[in-house]
Amino acid sequence: MSQTKGQKVQIRAYRVKVLLSRHPRVRKLKRLHFPSGHGNKFWTSSWLLMGFFHRRGLPERSRVMDVGCGWGLAGIYCAKKHDAVVTAIDTDPEVFPFLLLHAEINGVQIATVKRALGGLTSEDLRGFDILIGADICFWETLTYSLKRLINRALRSGIRMVLIADPGRPTFDELAEYFVQIQGGEILDWTVQRPRHIQGRILKIGSL
Ligand SMILES: C[S@@+](CC[C@H](N)C(=O)[O-])C[C@H]1O[C@@H](n2cnc3c(N)ncnc32)[C@H](O)[C@@H]1O
Repeated sequence: MSQTKGQKVQIRAYRVKVLLSRHPRVRKLKRLHFPSGHGNKFWTSSWLLMGFFHRRGLPERSRVMDVGCGWGLAGIYCAKKHDAVVTAIDTDPEVFPFLLLHAEINGVQIATVKRALGGLTSEDLRGFDILIGADICFWETLTYSLKRLINRALRSGIRMVLIADPGRPTFDELAEYFVQIQGGEILDWTVQRPRHIQGRILKIGSL
């Protein structure tokens, strides 16, 4: 079903199906689960990450960690389009039913782990190729946690980090720090699917 009472309830872009808040299955979950910390919907920067991989590629079977995953669309795209092995991390377990619903309708499997950014150890990070995050740098405290996490991830062998954001000051601070200390790049990025979306991607390292 993509319409209810004439209203659109589902969208699809980059081969990923997304149920909108008014879709009956999302409405049902919203009666049972109450994400806090902005995990109550999907955020637009996940489309920027999909656009990045669509243009630049992602080696098959890459091991991807999606931090602050929320509904997990960026990771679901990596699993569906590039056959990536994805682990989705969020501090709020109330987001996972929404993620698992989207994994199911997209026909992929995603592992979920309840953990705060600051709680991810080198042991947790070892074995992953790439760390991604969309719209997760919106508070000063998150900038601080992300700096520590990304440094730890790079020391643990993660080869590429991609953080996408609409371009908030907190993100700029994070991005400029990694441009200076790790040779990171700040990419102005635009996609046209599912609509015109503009933002930035911090890219550190390569695959
Ligand atoms: C704005 S949403 C973005 C969700 C998703 N990445 C997207 O693009 O739709 C931020 C997510 O980060 C999670 N979050 C907030 N603080 C966190 C922390 N300290 N550690 C891990 N996840 C956190 C929230 O629960 C929420 O799911």
